[in-house]
Amino acid sequence: MKILLTGASGLLGSAFAKAASRRQHEVIGLVGNYAGNVDGLARQESLDLSDLPRLEQFVLELFPDAIVNCAAFSIAAECESQPEASERINVALPEKLALLSRHLFARFVHISSDQVFDGKGAPYGIGDAPNPNSQYAVQKLESEKKVAAINPEFASIVRIPLLNGNSLSGKRSLHEQLFRSWSQGLATPLFEDEIRQPCLTGNLADALVELCERNDLQGLLHWAGETRLSRYEMGIQILDHFKLPHDLVKRTTRDSDPRFAHRQADLSLDLQPMEGKLKTRPQAFQDQLDALNVPPPCRDWYNAL
Ligand SMILES: NC(=O)c1ccc[n+]([C@@H]2O[C@H](COP(=O)([O-])OP(=O)(O)OC[C@H]3O[C@@H](n4cnc5c(N)ncnc54)[C@H](OP(=O)(O)O)[C@@H]3O)[C@@H](O)[C@H]2O)c1
Repeated sequence: MKILLTGASGLLGSAFAKAASRRQHEVIGLVGNYAGNVDGLARQESLDLSDLPRLEQFVLELFPDAIVNCAAFSIAAECESQPEASERINVALPEKLALLSRHLFARFVHISSDQVFDGKGAPYGIGDAPNPNSQYAVQKLESEKKVAAINPEFASIVRIPLLNGNSLSGKRSLHEQLFRSWSQGLATPLFEDEIRQPCLTGNLADALVELCERNDLQGLLHWAGETRLSRYEMGIQILDHFKLPHDLVKRTTRDSDPRFAHRQADLSLDLQPMEGKLKTRPQAFQDQLDALNVPPPCRDWYNAL
């Protein structure tokens, strides 16, 4: 299958490229500013995804069988500070890809987020009402509605949780950010009252490849890991895995600072119907840790311990 992948240099996109190429798919990856090579791509192009006419020309020339949209303005603070630029990537881009995939009769897999929920009613099923409380979450919800309305026949919209994994920069994912502050000598405060259900990028990528290969899972879907746990528990398990001391994290709560008051308490997801229909299984947090590397920017610090 010829798959067009946007955000190929991102945390999730780079994992998808590897997973899809292992399944013998031809993956054509679009990157933005990333200058290196992404493993698993049959072809890699640099293209500004806010340039929709250029994107349209590229897609129509390529004529893919499936489009997987992993591109995003994925840092919530950047969506607050750059509302228009983020709207172009988080809303206008998936809207355009939904139109193009409908035109081409191509499968379309669009990635959304657990952040569309307010955290007061977990676990959230696909029928539960979203209540976004940030610019990022508002944009994600808007993208879901547009994609579902434009392309109900060929589009799957997958809400996903906090991601575990190894990014190309070594700075993007949960454990990479923790390593960064640890290597700078900072003990990291982590909430014991913020529950998430993290997922490994490789496991999610396998599930997304399955979605591309199937025609019977359209509309809103949820995917996550198997384990619900607090940020503090995540930190402790990551420290144990890398044999680091527990005093590198500090247990705290969301009410410790007014800046954190808006953070959702519990964003656990109910994974039906996706879980019941895929060969890929949700993975326990402990099993996800085996795939994590010491981030390259922190290797000298770690090896010197
Ligand atoms: N990471 C998480 O924990 C998490 C949690 C829930 C949902 N999600 C969702 O999962 C999806 C993937 O997230 P991620 O963490 O993998 O994102 P990421 O690591 O921040 O990667 C974003 C990707 O988008 C590309 N991109 C952004 N603006 C672009 C532009 N104007 N032109 C071309 N490319 C552009 C970037 O390209 P360059 O870097 O090459 O410029 C990069 O490949 C997103 O929809 C995100 O909202 C992520």
